[in-house]
Amino acid sequence: MRFHLLTIFPDFFTGPFSHGVVARARDAGKLEVSIHDLRNWTHDRHRTVDDRCFGGGAGMLMKPAPIFEAVESIFPGRTPRQRVVLLTPQGPLFTQSTARRYAEAEELLLICGRYEGVDERVAEHLADEELSIGDYVLSGGELAAAIVIDATARLLPGVLGNDESAVDESFEQAGLLDYPQWTRPAEFRGWAVPEVLQGGNHAEIRRWRAEAARAKTVRNRPDLLK
Ligand code: ADE
Repeated sequence: MRFHLLTIFPDFFTGPFSHGVVARARDAGKLEVSIHDLRNWTHDRHRTVDDRCFGGGAGMLMKPAPIFEAVESIFPGRTPRQRVVLLTPQGPLFTQSTARRYAEAEELLLICGRYEGVDERVAEHLADEELSIGDYVLSGGELAAAIVIDATARLLPGVLGNDESAVDESFEQAGLLDYPQWTRPAEFRGWAVPEVLQGGNHAEIRRWRAEAARAKTVRNRPDLLK
């Protein structure tokens, strides 16, 4: 799968994609990340990407023209498996099921907004969808895009090894958090690992984990149980 990022801060992404699962998957050729500097699609001396907002108000908006030209040149003859997503706090929320849907795409282009927002014509006539990673306002879409790529990349075939498999995790089982886990030592500062997990009764362990996952969900995320 190929990810594209459209941004005015191309250097931002050297960190997030140079470590761990995403870096390993890139090296193995399981995914590609192409970073595009939005200013390459400006035509003035100052490489302007923003302008004042109609109707007044503080702050600057990102202009539509460079974004439209960029997307049209990255995806000439765009197909339905080339998804274009605008990152904005006004989008529907990103979830594990969004990541699963994106993992089916051939190419995913993430537009990182900056300044006070993006001309609405980008959301209405260019992007397939808007997307927010949570109910808070970041100073730009770059961090959000890195999160979306990380969550999507680890669902791609062959990216995680067997022992890191994604199927058991929180949210993969409809609306439950992952069960709590422990490693050695069996006792640490007087706190012991639950007895049942130290035995070898796998049916009992499965039952115990299902109940522990439910209890943890009730405590931390009752909204998931509805
Ligand atoms: N840009 C600013 N805040 C954002 C958010 N919460 N999600 C996605 N993009 C954003």
